[in-house]
Amino acid sequence: MRIDVFTIFPGLVDTFCSEALLGKARGSGLVDLRCHDLREHTTDVHRTVDDSPFGGGAGMLMRPEPIVASIEAANPPRPIFLLGPGGRRFDQALAGELAGSAGFSLLCGRYEGIDHRIREHVVDGELSVGDVVLGGGEVAACLVIEAVTRLVPGLMGNAQSPLTESFAADGLLEEPQYTRPADFRGWTVPEVLRSGDHARIDRWRLAQRLHRTMRYRPDLIEARGGIAPNEQRLLEEFPPVPYP
Ligand SMILES: C[S@@+](CC[C@H](N)C(=O)[O-])C[C@H]1O[C@@H](n2cnc3c(N)ncnc32)[C@H](O)[C@@H]1O
Repeated sequence: MRIDVFTIFPGLVDTFCSEALLGKARGSGLVDLRCHDLREHTTDVHRTVDDSPFGGGAGMLMRPEPIVASIEAANPPRPIFLLGPGGRRFDQALAGELAGSAGFSLLCGRYEGIDHRIREHVVDGELSVGDVVLGGGEVAACLVIEAVTRLVPGLMGNAQSPLTESFAADGLLEEPQYTRPADFRGWTVPEVLRSGDHARIDRWRLAQRLHRTMRYRPDLIEARGGIAPNEQRLLEEFPPVPYP
């Protein structure tokens, strides 16, 4: 998979993406990440990439020329996504879709954003990583890259992990999980998980996924069409574990 990132801070993205499983995947050639410095495509001595907005207003905007020159020189994989708070919300479903592709590109804004003509004529879409305003697109780019690449076949040690995580096929949050010791400071692991009764453990896990999602993400419950009668019975059989 090839991923190209266009930014005025290529080192931020490159450094983040050099560690952990993603760093290994780059080393083995599974992921070909190319970070392009937009300032290399400026023409003035100050390497200027921004200017003030037509019509006045606060802050500066990124000029279109360095962005277009950089993209044209790199011939990057499409789709090219601009990162921005006004874009389509990036989610696990889109991460899965992109993980099955040959590649994609990300354009990071800075300042008050970019000249709108880039949206109109250059990129294929805009992605938001949440209803927050970041100082630039680099953290958002790292988030997208990590979420996508961990789903690329062969990248994660355990291929089952993405299937049993939050936002997987059942549209729920993951259930609470525990490891050793079974008793730490009197904080004990639920008895059912130590029972060896795997059918009961599966029922408990589903009940906990439902409880947790109902509590923290009722929108996800609504999106999957509510709670089925058999799930309602599970909720009564297994009460929720404590949450903060
Ligand atoms: C300070 S923000 C600009 C915000 C813009 N003035 C607005 O109100 O929508 C600068 C850059 O950070 C990035 N950015 C900020 N918030 C983001 C988010 N929630 N998702 C993705 N990128 C974001 C974008 O690339 C954006 O161009």
